[in-house]
Amino acid sequence: MKPKVLVTREVFDEALAYLAEHFEVDANQGDVPLGAEQLAARLAGKAGALTTLVDRIDAALLAQCPELKAVCNIAVGFNNFDLAACTEHGVMATNTPGVLDDSTADFTWALILAAARRVGESERYLRAGQWTGWKLKQFLGTDVHHATLGILGMGRIGQKVARRAHGFDMPVIYHNSKRLPEEIERACNATYVGLDELLARADIFTVHAPYSQATHHLVGAEAFAKMKDGVVFIHASRGGVVDDAALVAALGSGKIGAAGLDVYEGEPKLNAELLKFDNVVLTPHIASSSEATRRNMAMLAAQNLVAALGGGMPPNLLNPDLGRA
Ligand code: DGY
Repeated sequence: MKPKVLVTREVFDEALAYLAEHFEVDANQGDVPLGAEQLAARLAGKAGALTTLVDRIDAALLAQCPELKAVCNIAVGFNNFDLAACTEHGVMATNTPGVLDDSTADFTWALILAAARRVGESERYLRAGQWTGWKLKQFLGTDVHHATLGILGMGRIGQKVARRAHGFDMPVIYHNSKRLPEEIERACNATYVGLDELLARADIFTVHAPYSQATHHLVGAEAFAKMKDGVVFIHASRGGVVDDAALVAALGSGKIGAAGLDVYEGEPKLNAELLKFDNVVLTPHIASSSEATRRNMAMLAAQNLVAALGGGMPPNLLNPDLGRA
């Protein structure tokens, strides 16, 4: 008999077909997120699950699912997993690193350009029928070329963002928990600086840190106060890394000249104040959402699940102690 697995949200047909070759699949293709109780009920008797970032896998849930052996996120972020609890319950946990780096970096640049050059605001104006003709001073924006790009969090995605700055003739500075090896700095054309220097020097400031207790509100009131007046602020990593109330205050005071945001604390609800600012580009957590990348993410998660339940080492195991057992 094939092991039973749950797919918690809608996925692409090829990922489902691949899973069906190996498992008896219960798929929530209706795509309504499952609440904690529903998730526990649907996981009863399942050996594995393909999960998304809205599925909370914690000790309380795991205690109700003794047969569960693997949870495979369709996301690189895994702050929806209590990793220690997964390890304690012998549940392998995986994510999807790598496949979304380029798409997410591309989208970060979409936010940079849209925010700095007032794309959303001017498009809304045109669509509203307000455009009466060309004017010299119309929608004056901030130049991206030659501006100093500051990157907080220089993992794979931060590095891809940095490399794309080359074409815009931008000096790139970064801060990271660990300084990168020289050859990577050279390839990214990026200079390591302390956090205060990054905050003080960046004309365009972009955040690429994963969410954890350690990065909770990494960018808050104190950080905004140290930024340049009129900074262009970009966030496409994970809600909670930025203190959204402090961000609203910094927008209100004019400290931030423009912002591009893809992720929010408590999403899909967002701080309603953000909606009041015309100089903010707001997108619904879609930085990785190109068709090819989302397909690749789903397939990689499925491959992780097949490997985990097939007795092998999943390519993206987050709790490797279990893989060695
Ligand atoms: C991720 O992979 O963590 C992304 O946020 C999903 O969109």
